[in-house]
This record gives sequence, C-alpha cells and structure tokens, in this order.
Amino acid sequence: MTNFGNYEERVKGFSWALSEQELGYQPGQIINIGWYCSDRICQLGKADKTALIWEGFTGEKKIFSYNDIRLYSNVFAQFLTDLGIKAGDRVCLFMDRVPELYIGFVGILKTGAIAQPLFSAFGEESLFIRLENAQTSAIFTQKKHVSKVRKIRERLPHLKHIIIVDYDGKTPLQAREVAFSMEGSKKVEHYDIYPTYAETPSVLHYTSGTTGMPKGVQHVHYSLISQYLTAKWVLDLKDDDIYWCTADPGWVTGTSYGIIAPFSLGITQCVLDSGFSAEAWYKFIEKNRVTVWYSAPTAIRSLMKAGDEIIKKFDLSSLRHLASVGEPLNPEAVNWSIRVFGKPFHDTYWQTETGCIVITNFPGMPVKPGSMGRPFPGITATVLNPNNYEPYPEPGRIGLIGLKPGWPSMMRTYWNNEEAYKNKFRNGWYLTGDRARIDKEGYFWFVGRDDDVINTAGHLVSPFEVESALLEHPSVAESAVVSKPDPINMEVVKAFVTLKPGFTPSKDLELDIMNFIRKKLSPLAMPQEIEFVDSLPKTRSGKIMRRILHAKEWGEEIGDTSTLEND
Ligand code: WT7
Repeated sequence: MTNFGNYEERVKGFSWALSEQELGYQPGQIINIGWYCSDRICQLGKADKTALIWEGFTGEKKIFSYNDIRLYSNVFAQFLTDLGIKAGDRVCLFMDRVPELYIGFVGILKTGAIAQPLFSAFGEESLFIRLENAQTSAIFTQKKHVSKVRKIRERLPHLKHIIIVDYDGKTPLQAREVAFSMEGSKKVEHYDIYPTYAETPSVLHYTSGTTGMPKGVQHVHYSLISQYLTAKWVLDLKDDDIYWCTADPGWVTGTSYGIIAPFSLGITQCVLDSGFSAEAWYKFIEKNRVTVWYSAPTAIRSLMKAGDEIIKKFDLSSLRHLASVGEPLNPEAVNWSIRVFGKPFHDTYWQTETGCIVITNFPGMPVKPGSMGRPFPGITATVLNPNNYEPYPEPGRIGLIGLKPGWPSMMRTYWNNEEAYKNKFRNGWYLTGDRARIDKEGYFWFVGRDDDVINTAGHLVSPFEVESALLEHPSVAESAVVSKPDPINMEVVKAFVTLKPGFTPSKDLELDIMNFIRKKLSPLAMPQEIEFVDSLPKTRSGKIMRRILHAKEWGEEIGDTSTLEND
C-alpha cells in the first residue's frame, strides 16, 4: 500500500487542512519548522530514533538521533542568540554536507532568523553577490572555505559574524571570526524557540540562475504544510524507511526534501558528503540499506554512463522507491532504471519558487516514461496560451506551465525585488517559465524552458524530445540541443553530444546517430549538425546550461555565469 492511494480520491475534496491536522497545527497558531523537525518528533516518542546517518569523504561515519538533532539545534540557536542575532536576520550556511549544515539549518529556524544556504563550491564572487543582496548578518563556514569569506568581508559591512564550525586553533582567528563547535559545546536542554507564524520568513534560496542574475526566493514557515505532505505522498516515506536525498542543501531540493520533509516526518535519512562516483553511490545504498532514493537526471545519466556491469557487484535489493528532480527525466533513464533496479525513477517537477513538488508521477500509478505525471492534489496546474494567458481548452497543445497561486510553500517574494516577483504572474496564474503539453489523461509532458524552446520555420521543437532521442543511441552519454541561426528557417536545431567511454567522435558516428534519431523525430526536429564535445556547461546544481551554448551559436553575450559549474 502506498501512502498516496488513489489519485481521484485524493483530489476529490482535497484541502491542505489535512496536512495541518496531521501536524497538529491550527491556523493562527505558532508554527516553527525547527521545532517540527526536532522537538516534536521527540515528543512523539521518537527521541532515540536515528535521524541522520552521515558519512564523510574519508569514510568517517556519525549517527544522530532525533534527541541529538533537538539538543544540537538548540546549541546553534543559543549561540546565535548570544551573538545578538535577531528574528528576521539572514544567517548563511556555507558548508559542505557536514552534520552542522543539517542541524544548523534547524537551529537557525528556531531563532526566527532566515536561513540562507549557499553551495560551498561557490567562488568568492558568487558568494559575495548573494551575501550582499541579502545583507546577511552571519555566516557559518568551515576552515577550508573561510579564505573565500576573508576575501570579500571588507565589502560586506553587514556581515558581523564569520562562524567557523571546525576551528582547530592552529592559525589565529581574523576580524569578525568566531569559533564554534557543535559537538564540543555544552548541550542546551532548553531553548526558547522564537514564536514564528505561518507568514514568518524561514528560508532564502538563491535560484540556480540558468538565466539572468540569481534571485533570492523567499519562503515562510507555513511551507512545511506542503513539504510534509508532498514528501509523504510522493516520496512515499514511511516510518521504517532509510531515505537518501542526493541533493546538496545549497539548493532547494536539499532543504525541502533533504532536511524539512524527512525530519518533520521523523524518518531516518542518510547523507554522503563526497563527490560523485557510481561505485561509491551503489556502495552507499548497499551499506545503508537505502529504501527511498531521491536524485536527479544528471546523476542518473552518469550512472547510466558507468554501465550496467558494475551494478551487479552490489546488493541494491533494499531500494523500494526511486524519484528524480531538477531536469526533464529522459524516457531512456526510466527504462534503464526498470531494467537495472527493477523499478522506475518517478519524475517530480517543481522549482525553487514552488517550494514543493507540484507535478509528479505518484507511487503506485503507472509511469509514462518521459512524462512528468500529474498535478499534486491542491495544486491547480495548466498549460496556457502564450498570447492571452488563458488555459488551452483542449489537450495536446504546447503552452506555458501556469500554476494557480495559493499553496502553502509558494514563494512569498523575491528578496528585495518585488517587481521581478510581480512579473511572474499573468491573468491570475503564476508562470513557471517552462513549456509543456497535457495529454488526454491529464499527464504533463515537459517541452523545455521558455528560453530553450526552438522555433524552426514557425514550428516549436522541444529540446527535451531531441535530447531524449539522442540518449537512446548506445554511444551518447549526454546531449544538449539548442537553436542556431539559419537564413531560411530563422532557427534550426543543433545538438551537442558527449560520448560514453569507448566511443570516439567521427563523421561516421555522426551519420550513424543521425540515421538512428531520424526514425524517432519529425523532420523539423532533426538536428542540422551534431557537435561532439568533452563536456556540457552545467549549473552547479547539475542542470545543463543551454543558454551558454545558444549564446555561442548566436554570437551573443553569455550573461551571468556565477552558477556555472567550472568557473
Ligand atoms: C527548473 C527549476 C526543484 C528542485 C530543483 C530545481 C527544471 C525541475 C524538472 C522536471 C523538467 C524540471 C524546470 C524548472 N525542472 N524539475 N522534473 N522536469 N524540468 O529547482 O533550480 O529552481 O529549477 O528546473 O525548468 O523550472 P530550480
């Protein structure tokens, strides 16, 4: 039995009050995510239950119970309060995936301050842009990253406290720096949690910025109501699960479903703080007996590239439910996962702005490979005509994905940029900036980001569809499809391709791939050219940046690249 059950029954008469009741929340009362993620689980009698199984890149392992999360988050909260941090102040987490990142997040929320997680691989300029924009008061970081903060602190007068969580006393502390040791501090049995309410700001996430400058997406404590229920129904999390969310909390998946959802559900989750390798990942699943696994297409394609043979070396029979987010999930990836794991990856579609999963393949419902699935109950999703922002009355038309605002975890604004926020709405719909079509059964099919969709001689071509066809060729590891200028058709399709190990670029291979995809695509969608490349430009969160390839083809400015993986 899945937690979700039957789609039609769940949709009928759905109300978010269901989630409020399960969490024991009454409208108008205090709601604090930090409390829900720790104290409440202890009160429910699960103080000794394992909350976090952590493994570092050296193989070091630590285990934290829910009582540990409660006590250590109190330690964080008390420390911040003693420093003078007040409700509403922005407190940045700039760390690798160490336990302090997860527990510190809970602690910050207990103080009423706004948690601002930033990916630790950011260079100092990327960090500067975001700390400056948010006027951040304090930053938690590690020794290995503090040099980046030192380079920019003079330009950040608001940044009063630079808190080092693993200070070893070897080199002297510099201006504004202070040492903090979570496990070395005296445990704080009682902390007076700040009385946050539904609309009190909680988390500030900077978007990965595939286009334009990164914007600070502002969430509130009430977001919990969506994050809790979507995790329960879509990820099918149950009391005895061992859950692994591979996303870094520098991005929204790593907070909504890597901290808030699993902790508020009282689930055991594990975290691997090391870079990607297929071997290490499979080993981690085997060792921890992972049951629910939430990952991303870019990682899945890397696993596919590593081949099927290696999988046979591991016992992955614990896996019960698989889900994916971040980019469109190619049908080939779904079919591959059925072949090698005996179960499909379930696509989940959402955004930093939506705070929770909004369209998805539900557990127990048939997966149509290549489709994102159906809207979550309580979410009204549609495809809008781009000319008048009215929903298309008939299925099958490609248009803009629009969402009816009003679910609990919808962003409340862009930090200091109300204008950009307002600009996301038309005719009462929130515009996601993505295009899709809906089939007769109400399943959504992703077409592309608005800026990535190709218009060749007046026909819309979905880069996702072309990329998915390419991926089915045995030599193709990854691909990115963009438009290039053309005197007759204005734009034509061009594909960039990386190859699997054992294949080398050649004219013959290009022809072979062209002949292969010709059978799958309409003539208009056929690439005019395939360019073999060693790697594709990606954001640090793993999304292919088609914008950069597009700009090169058109001889345009590349724009902001602060989220580019290798800058
Ligand atoms: C954009 C949002 C939400 C967590 C991570 C990304 C793309 C995301 C899917 C999917 C097709 C997807 C969209 C969306 N995207 N999930 N399942 N299928 N596209 O958050 O960085 O705010 O990016 O990622 O283009 O708008 P984000």
